[in-house]
Amino acid sequence: MDIFDKVANNMGALGQFAEAGHGYYFFPKLEGEISNRMKFRGRDMLVWSLNNYLGLANHPEVRKADADAAAKYGMASPMGARMMSGQTIYHEQLERELADFEHKEAAYLLNFGYMGMVSIIDSMIDRHDVVVYDSDAHACILDGLRMHIGKRFVYPHNNMEKFEQQLKHAKKVTEQSGGGILVITEGVYGMAGDCGNLRGILQFKDQYGFRLLIDDAHGFGTMGRTGAGTSEDQDVMDQVDVYFGTFAKAMAGIGAFVASEKRIIKSLAYNMRSQIYAKSLPMPMVIGSLKRIELIRNHPEIKDKLWIIANALQNGLKAKGFDLGRTQSPVTPVYFKGGVGEATQIVADLRENYAIFCSVVVYPVVPKGVIMLRLIPTAAHTLEDVEYTVNSFSEVKQKLDEGKFSTGGVPLLGEAF
Ligand SMILES: Cc1ncc(COP(=O)(O)O)c(C=O)c1O
Repeated sequence: MDIFDKVANNMGALGQFAEAGHGYYFFPKLEGEISNRMKFRGRDMLVWSLNNYLGLANHPEVRKADADAAAKYGMASPMGARMMSGQTIYHEQLERELADFEHKEAAYLLNFGYMGMVSIIDSMIDRHDVVVYDSDAHACILDGLRMHIGKRFVYPHNNMEKFEQQLKHAKKVTEQSGGGILVITEGVYGMAGDCGNLRGILQFKDQYGFRLLIDDAHGFGTMGRTGAGTSEDQDVMDQVDVYFGTFAKAMAGIGAFVASEKRIIKSLAYNMRSQIYAKSLPMPMVIGSLKRIELIRNHPEIKDKLWIIANALQNGLKAKGFDLGRTQSPVTPVYFKGGVGEATQIVADLRENYAIFCSVVVYPVVPKGVIMLRLIPTAAHTLEDVEYTVNSFSEVKQKLDEGKFSTGGVPLLGEAF
């Protein structure tokens, strides 16, 4: 078979709907400055689908810091990977500030969170070690594990009884192999919005002697008293061995970091292939991140505003009888019963008739027959946005309950690819 024929026919689980939905459900183009209101297909929309939790994307001080650094250094600087020619005093300063913020000895920047996580896992374990990880782990964790040639044991999401069983299996293996156990969980699970049970996990730490790595992509900046994340929220900062956060969400940027003991960060810096063989974070992103972290540290009212909006949205939707599942974070999933046809019609109704833009998640990310609309409240939203959205959702739900969406399949709203 010709590889091209095979590739062209392999559209994946969602690609089968590309004809009907490209440019509308998938790859939609949101235009204008990042805020609660943006343009979609020429119309103003109230947007609930950006992980701009703290509203920093368009914060004037952030915009200025990014622009000033870009004017001074350009986007190319520094050229090369950190180890060769991409090291600067700003990269080191940002790492010190992130380490302090996370109460860790040291931190290291990652040019992309996804690739960074793959390499953290790859660098920390070898064939003798065993990984015990949560079944809902993000793709970057799963891809890191793909490279692991030793054993791994998965436990059902946050199920502490099964977690301990898997620890027992892991211990048996490592007693033979002489390796260690690495446990991996997320802080906030970005789809359902619930938190990894860090306290539950850690109660087994002494008995089984594992190290804990957490991916807190959605928790960094949003959770905990100071915004230091889910480990701060659960008061276990000192017991999390390796903390990972991304700049792609609350920091409204790009890049990521890992924080841990100094000896671990030193080893990671010399071993993470995705960092050794790839370019360093550009200067505007590093200097811009210094401004972002300064704002997070010095302006707790920004995170408070996020939570005011998140609580108002979640309480408002719950009061109208919506099922928000098990969220414990600003991530607000709204569950409906229905298939892909209904899901697409609900989304189209919200966009076309209510000018509300949110993301939809269907099987295989959620079980068959379940639709999840995922709302991300941010500090850039207003209470009026919340009220309007809760009322609009009620109207749309009523239409769904009356069977108004049940007839058709996917509405043909896509553009040619
Ligand atoms: C849980 C989790 N981990 C890692 C990542 C990857 O981060 P980045 O966008 O910095 O590559 C994401 C982003 O989608 C995420 O949600």
